[in-house]
Amino acid sequence: EKGGYDYFMLKEIAEQPKAVADTLLGRIDGSGSLTLDEVRIPPGVLREIDKVVIVACGTAFHAGMIAKYAIEHWTRLPCEVELASEFRYRDPILDAQTLVIAISQSGETMDTLMALRHAREQGSKVLAICNTNGSTIPRESDAVLYTHAGPEVAVASTKAFLTQLVACYLVALYLGQVRGTKGADEIRALIRDLSSIAGAVERVLGTMEPVRELARTLASKRTVLFLGRHVGYPVALEGALKLKELAYMHAEGFAAGELKHGPIALIEEDLPVVVVVPSPRGRSVLHDKIVSNIQEIRARGARTIVIAEEGDEAVVPYADHLVRIPATPTLLQPLVATVPLQVFACELATARGNDVDQPRNLAKSVTVE
Ligand code: F6R
Repeated sequence: EKGGYDYFMLKEIAEQPKAVADTLLGRIDGSGSLTLDEVRIPPGVLREIDKVVIVACGTAFHAGMIAKYAIEHWTRLPCEVELASEFRYRDPILDAQTLVIAISQSGETMDTLMALRHAREQGSKVLAICNTNGSTIPRESDAVLYTHAGPEVAVASTKAFLTQLVACYLVALYLGQVRGTKGADEIRALIRDLSSIAGAVERVLGTMEPVRELARTLASKRTVLFLGRHVGYPVALEGALKLKELAYMHAEGFAAGELKHGPIALIEEDLPVVVVVPSPRGRSVLHDKIVSNIQEIRARGARTIVIAEEGDEAVVPYADHLVRIPATPTLLQPLVATVPLQVFACELATARGNDVDQPRNLAKSVTVE
């Protein structure tokens, strides 16, 4: 049952604060450090790892792209992210020192399963990040970290995505912990930040009415573009994917730095462009660069929809629509920045008369290659 909501997707969006908190549950001990007992890959083996490779599809792939930033930053291990459907066909370099992370909500995605089988054949260890207990991908992996999002019924992934991100951050911190690249104090501080995210997501959800109103006014548009940078880039891709699959609109996500290398030619009068703005406190150079991007596209007549941290005043003059999100540490921003994009896509699709739980041509789990 939909618990009073018109669609499962709306219910699942609303469940995100709890889902995110549940992913952390039981994984932090009294002293504030991590206890990932489920990760049965012995610490000795994790210390020998010299590379991480993430394989996934669709939304889970976007979670993997974000995980790469955290893993490389917190562990200094090189990390690659690859679409599972491409992975085994290019003869990837894998060995016993490679940790492969397979991310899948359903645990049944054939592309991801074939990628992990290929990795295990090469002697790599596979850790699954999965939402469905006892599904095939965790059964065939060396270890599994369940996301505990609860069943996700709507075809478009929402709460599974946020919990995949939390699980990825936990794995990244755990690797930092066992390999000694992150000190106990730093880990404790980062876990505190992660623990505050459920409340931040709740606050975002409480401010979504203007986003819904805006989405309804854009129902007859043909194209929406999404721009982001650093961890905001995969968020832009995820926003575009949600809009494609639900609203059946042309939507594209770009890395904002690429704008000048081609996509800026697409900018025209009244084109809606959603921009995910990095925190002005963290990597402030990136923040300033994105503000100039917004300025550039607005000068060409685009309608700018700006997702920016509370207190970021620099964006105000260039935002036709401003969506505020709570301040978070740079790497964790996707957990709050994605939420308005889910709401936006859901509302726009509904305004176009689409069934957001059952988008055309799509299945919840894709068990063919
Ligand atoms: C998008 C979506 C799909 C899935 C993808 C992978 O909203 O739901 O892109 O993310 O098919 O599915 P899982 O995570 O079950 O492997």
